[in-house]
Amino acid sequence: MQHQLTRRSFLAGLGIAPAAAAVGHIDWLSQQPSHRVSLTGTAEIFGRFFGAAVQINQIQSDEKLHEAVLRDCTYLTPEIHLKWDAVEPRQGAYSFSYMDRLVSFASSHKFKIRGHTLLWDESTPRWAKERLVETQDWRLVRKHISKVMSRYGHAIEEWDVINEPIDANGKDGLRENVFLRTFGPAYVANALRDARSIAPQAKLFINDYGFEYDNPFEERRRQSFLKLLRRIVSECAPLDGVGLQAHLGLGRGKIEPSVLHSFLQKIADLGLEIVITELDVKETDFSAPVEERDQWVADEARGFLDIALEQSAMKGVVAWGLSDRHSWLSPGNSTGAGTTSATIRDKSMLNRGLPYDADFRPKLLYWTLHDALARRRSLSGINLNRGARRSAA
Ligand code: XIL
Repeated sequence: MQHQLTRRSFLAGLGIAPAAAAVGHIDWLSQQPSHRVSLTGTAEIFGRFFGAAVQINQIQSDEKLHEAVLRDCTYLTPEIHLKWDAVEPRQGAYSFSYMDRLVSFASSHKFKIRGHTLLWDESTPRWAKERLVETQDWRLVRKHISKVMSRYGHAIEEWDVINEPIDANGKDGLRENVFLRTFGPAYVANALRDARSIAPQAKLFINDYGFEYDNPFEERRRQSFLKLLRRIVSECAPLDGVGLQAHLGLGRGKIEPSVLHSFLQKIADLGLEIVITELDVKETDFSAPVEERDQWVADEARGFLDIALEQSAMKGVVAWGLSDRHSWLSPGNSTGAGTTSATIRDKSMLNRGLPYDADFRPKLLYWTLHDALARRRSLSGINLNRGARRSAA
């Protein structure tokens, strides 16, 4: 049986008239806790979680972000603080203060943290790359994994051990990065084994992007990813799940339901969990009216989420930020990194690919997320106890 929940019925169920909840007019915090519309509330009722990538300095300096994080998230992903170049910018000179602050914030508000990420070529500091090439010594990698996991093992249950290992054009479908060059394809399984031995209880993930669209390039990426996952599973290397980054993009083509569905099913058939780890939508046309742009963004996300959330191995959704104010995406910056919203005066030039606009007004994408998190899940999968507990709170 399919549960169809529209924004209207969802709000009605919470005792909120849709008109009162018109975008921008809802008075969130005056609602009773049981009547509060929140993304995590919807996700939890339907047996999933919702979270966002954050920076603790932004949470602590921006009241609106702070409020939105408390309201909408159960999971937080450190957008930057846990990466190798953030924790050890120079060899042996550790810098854990931001991550420590995030962990203490998370523990006082009972958030869970996704451990993003242990090995990512792009966030490996130059000194470490040089040492790896020079010494070919795996102990440097092991030391990094061990240092980070043993410090945060008590607070983090789920880790992106490897980030972005796939390149459809690479040998064996693997990205030509410092780890592959130095240690060969075995680096993936070796890192997973080290992670398991250091934090035996932790869930271990591989996280990557570019699997959503129906085009030959992403098809090759999907095949390369499945090949890697099958190899890992057949070698009995420890792997619990995969993260699909889901940085969607307008103009990237079509999302074909049957293709996406079968890809996700093949991952689930390997016994792996799936999490959408970095959801956002990159825009291409900033000149159109805002209402139209928001509609395009929401439609794009819906096309993906409606299929992705049909899959019961899908455990939750993490957005790569909550508000356009903090989005890593900005026009004219193809890598996404570098320019921050604070440096852009003209708000129409901000990418509108996250649930809230730069003033923390919920956009169509916010409601699309609610709908998608609530729709198409069989009632048997709904966690009624959890919902009941929340309402009673
Ligand atoms: C990005 C952050 O959002 C930026 O602030 C930082 O400058 C670079 O990294 N895929 C990932 C994330 O796995 O870690 C990246 O995050 C976005 C792409």
